[in-house]
Amino acid sequence: MSNNLLTVAYIVASALFILSLGGLSDQETARQGNVYGIVGMLIAFVATALSLDMNAYGILGSVVIPGAVIGAIVASRVAMTSMPELVAILHSFVGAAAVLVGIANYLQETRSLTPVESTIHQIEIFVGVFIGAVTFTGSIIAFGKLRGIISSKPLLLPGRHLLNLTMLAAAIWLGSQFIGAEAITGLQPLLIMSAIASVLGIHLVMAIGGADMPVVISMLNSYSGWAAAAAGFMLSNDLLIITGALVGSSGAILSYIMCKAMNRSFISVILGGFGAQTSASAGDGEQIEGKVTSTTVEDTVELLSRAKSVIIVPGYGMAVAQAQHGVSEIVKRLRDRGIKVRFGIHPVAGRMPGHMNVLLAEAKVPYDIVLEMDEINEDFTETDVVLVIGANDTVNPSALENPNSPIAGMPVLEVWKAGTVIVMKRSMASGYAGVENPLFYKHNTLMLFGDARKNIDATVGKLAELSEESVNLNLAVKPAFST
Ligand code: TAP
Repeated sequence: MSNNLLTVAYIVASALFILSLGGLSDQETARQGNVYGIVGMLIAFVATALSLDMNAYGILGSVVIPGAVIGAIVASRVAMTSMPELVAILHSFVGAAAVLVGIANYLQETRSLTPVESTIHQIEIFVGVFIGAVTFTGSIIAFGKLRGIISSKPLLLPGRHLLNLTMLAAAIWLGSQFIGAEAITGLQPLLIMSAIASVLGIHLVMAIGGADMPVVISMLNSYSGWAAAAAGFMLSNDLLIITGALVGSSGAILSYIMCKAMNRSFISVILGGFGAQTSASAGDGEQIEGKVTSTTVEDTVELLSRAKSVIIVPGYGMAVAQAQHGVSEIVKRLRDRGIKVRFGIHPVAGRMPGHMNVLLAEAKVPYDIVLEMDEINEDFTETDVVLVIGANDTVNPSALENPNSPIAGMPVLEVWKAGTVIVMKRSMASGYAGVENPLFYKHNTLMLFGDARKNIDATVGKLAELSEESVNLNLAVKPAFST
């Protein structure tokens, strides 16, 4: 393939990647976005394989084919709740690739460069290997924490920030030794820096509590993008630079959105130290007034069927219980009765971005009734019944009412403003942030204890009985009118 054709292919692939990101930002167009991404990647791969520089087809086939097969098998088998783990380990591959490409590129430079170009190229290699090594080990630790192989407790070494700073300073000093070093002599500082950056990656992520890992993963996603962009500079591959920059910036934006929704400091995430604060202050010792009122499936059905408007607020518990299909059935039955039903989705409900949207889409819930927190928060006052399914922190009023709460300032769904709130969960246990929830003690809250799947299925059953009863009633009443 000529260089001109290769450039055209790369431009088309880049445009498809941008369209893919645009598509993925909305539930309705997400599938289309995925298709754009797949086509873009295919074009990029075929164009690179057919480019003039490529002649080692044996090696290419021997790595790409097993890689593609393993990737397809792993991705098709992964459970939705294990997705963050898979993403973490895939990021580590990007980091490792950036390190290996950087070292290989240094050892076997084929182009003849002017002194200035050579310095720029060495900076590209050094920065790329640094980011790659941090991403590689950081992602492995994130994977280990999510899998439970490594303790999820944050490792808080004394003077850890100073330690990080020292490692960074050492890497910068090694960089000054590397740049301008004659031929192969730069390999030593490059390898020592790789080792230091690997330790830095481990230390940064070890300092963060396991439950905060999703934000870290999104941050590592961003790092892996920058590592790929750096590899693109090393290889003078424009497509890799563009793709890396897209991944890097979208990962950073996503981390920022998640931090905002969880009321975390973005800077402190990058510096690897906000998980400690969560666990240290989790017990806020708040005295909650009021009493807990429990309810039954029968009463829940009664309340739901009499309501004019219902908002369903799902959370992590719905994902654990895999109750989304039953929830979809409830929606259908209530809408058949003429009840207005909508969903209120908190940006960090569940354990990964878009967790609830994915589950609801899987259960074929219509997109137009699934609303974001900002779109629905003002409507709770005019809502008869709110059904909270396995959500806890995202509906906790203390975020707004108690300035000492560890989640103070986090925007939440203000469900307690509705007529009645029914909360489905198994116990009075706290949620992810480990904070007590005063919602459960409010006068208009009813607790429906038990596994969400079991209670949802029982609710569907009762609603079905109710529909049958009304059909029978109609049949019995009609002849009386017709005579
Ligand atoms: P959580 O606050 O984690 O609460 C989930 C609740 O579900 C628990 O209190 C649990 O109570 C209940 N539950 C668990 N299994 C259940 C089952 N089988 N049946 C019924 N209930 C069950 O959930 P949330 O409101 O979705 O909030 C998400 C939290 O995760 C936030 O604090 C957020 O900051 C954090 N987080 C989110 C993300 C992203 S990107 N989504 C990333 C990192 C952290 P019981 O044990 O009593 O049943």
